[in-house]
Amino acid sequence: MKDLIDRLVKERDLSDEEFERLILCEDKETTEYLASKAREVREDVYGKEVYLRGLIEFTNYCKNDCLYCGIRRSNKNAERYRLTEEQILSCCESGYKLGFRTFVLQGGEDAYFSDDVLVPLIKEIKEKYPECALTLSIGEREKESYQKLFDAGADRYLLRHETADKEHYESLHPAELSFDHRMKCLWDLKEIGYQVGCGMMIGSPNQTVKHLIKDLRFLQEFKPEMVGIGPFIPHHDTPFADCETGSVEITLKLLSIIRIMLPEVLLPATTALGTADGLGREKGILAGANVVMPNLSPTDVRDKYLLYDNKICTGDEAAECIRCMTLRVKKVGYEVVQKRGDHIRFS
Ligand code: 5AD
Ligand code: FES
Repeated sequence: MKDLIDRLVKERDLSDEEFERLILCEDKETTEYLASKAREVREDVYGKEVYLRGLIEFTNYCKNDCLYCGIRRSNKNAERYRLTEEQILSCCESGYKLGFRTFVLQGGEDAYFSDDVLVPLIKEIKEKYPECALTLSIGEREKESYQKLFDAGADRYLLRHETADKEHYESLHPAELSFDHRMKCLWDLKEIGYQVGCGMMIGSPNQTVKHLIKDLRFLQEFKPEMVGIGPFIPHHDTPFADCETGSVEITLKLLSIIRIMLPEVLLPATTALGTADGLGREKGILAGANVVMPNLSPTDVRDKYLLYDNKICTGDEAAECIRCMTLRVKKVGYEVVQKRGDHIRFS
């Protein structure tokens, strides 16, 4: 297996059959070797730096009904909230003081946040914090809308593809959501000039290794600037309530493989990974991740943005999360820095 990993490092590619063997390999020595190679690749590009993203979960209203997600519209038990423009700005203000140089506005697909509402908000954030990057994670929109938000100053966009297999996509989403439209959105975002992040859950219901390999092939083709991956975790009020949590080990192997395939990619150690395993984020960083995304949302709404069960950090102040994350990152030999942390092609 070491030869295989060495060849992956050299060629940034393997055959489907070889990827399958690597993803399924449970031998500790092999996975540690894979992770060590991923760390080398990442340190060649980004050194020991770990970038912070201040996550502002500004609305949990959502018109969609994704089968895996706790804030899907048919979850009548979700207590809905929407931050005001003032509250969002105040999150940025406290985040800036804490050292964040990227803000991520993440929310459900909430019709209240039309372009007319978002454009002035984006402009104001960018005027107040010109040295900060602004990332949007607000789902599928039309290209004209993405363009307006970009022109207003948004720098980056996160939109996970969820799975690169159309049939699998359709098994995770209601009929009104289309795989082709999701893909079109991603290509539109790229064409406009955003730094784009896609990604998938690991171990989502009906997922096979073949699907994961398709995801890798899609990443090779799309060449995203960011890739968000984390284990699927069931939410009790969804149709997938009784499904199993995705494998942390497979998530870690995929982080390493993605790091090696796309050396310059910005790769977060996600909250879902930290939820599925108490040391998941540390393990993620040691597997090749170089981004962490502590929560900046006001504490009184934290426990309402629940995509899955047992989410960590829902009771902690932003200051506590940043202190905690800084220590956790240091403990594994890396360093949280106060920088925008752009993809190397954009910096
Ligand atoms: N478990 C893990 N991740 C989830 N997401 C949504 N629901 C879950 C879940 N139950 C992920 C999706 C989405 C991102 C914002 O969160 O991949 O794109
Ligand atoms: Fe939130 Fe540790 S990162 S408490």
